[in-house]
Amino acid sequence: MRRNLTAAVLTGVLAVTALAGCGDSGGDDAGSSDNGDGKITLGFSQVGAESGWRTANTKSIQESATAAGIDLKFFDAQGKQENQITAIRNFITQKVDVIAFSPVVTSGWDPVLKEAKDAGIPVILTDRAVDSTDTSLYQTFIGSDFVEEGKKAGDWLVKEYEGKTDPVNVVELQGTTGSAPAIDRQKGFADAIAANPNIKIVKSQTGDFKRADGKTVMEQFLQSTPDIDVLYAHNDDMGLGAIEAIEAAGKVPGKDIKIITVDAVKDGMTALAAGKINFIVECSPLLGPQLMELAKKADAGETLEKRVLTVETTFTQEQAKTELPNRKY
Ligand code: AHR
Repeated sequence: MRRNLTAAVLTGVLAVTALAGCGDSGGDDAGSSDNGDGKITLGFSQVGAESGWRTANTKSIQESATAAGIDLKFFDAQGKQENQITAIRNFITQKVDVIAFSPVVTSGWDPVLKEAKDAGIPVILTDRAVDSTDTSLYQTFIGSDFVEEGKKAGDWLVKEYEGKTDPVNVVELQGTTGSAPAIDRQKGFADAIAANPNIKIVKSQTGDFKRADGKTVMEQFLQSTPDIDVLYAHNDDMGLGAIEAIEAAGKVPGKDIKIITVDAVKDGMTALAAGKINFIVECSPLLGPQLMELAKKADAGETLEKRVLTVETTFTQEQAKTELPNRKY
């Protein structure tokens, strides 16, 4: 399915140049998918670099492409949907063999996905879902079950307070507004605690999956809400930022305020092992090897399973101490 380029090469060069300002992080930006070596060309549009998880995810994709002999055109959208749409349009113009992307938010993708479909280029969703009802617009979606992650976080909390009837005040740091992990982690958690009327989410606000924002929002929570028992942060980075705010307020993270996060990156696991976080739900960023396998199959015209789930676990403080030396990201 390698495609020959002629005029599209020039168009592609112009399009890629236009996009350079929105974060080309080092992929092949020559503007042509046909480099004459018969390799599959994969255009990948990344969300950004908002968290340790994202950095590990980018590394996994770049290293796996090299290992698989795939020519990767990588673009960092810097957290903006419009940049991702522009990148995907450029990939179409360049006639790449396969397009993959991790959508910043769930909605608004149908027009550009239709353009890819009309151009005959298979699309693979990685990490995050879209809300398109026409599932023929993409070949497969590889990534975590975010609702399940939120449920695991809520189940741990319910167990932690089992048999107690005193009020448990929870503050929630949400991920990027409108993103699949923020929507689903909120839902899974809310469902899990629903049968326990004493456990209440008293404040919930986005920290955009960023450490600095997690700190700022937690400072506001601490000022407005004196009796916080638990923090549920949709990722480690926001939890780590919040820990700084909690310590600055003279409280002990992990004791005065229990903390649950999602991801299990090295920094998060270090804080968990040190007793500053109480429980982490794993979300694996190591999607690269599977993505390359799927890209090869899609390029060969094979029908892919519509959903490829990532296998994940959870960590307590004791488990983090054992796992930490092996943690690669
Ligand atoms: O989509 C996965 C989420 O995005 C990670 O949990 C978070 O850290 C990242 O920014």
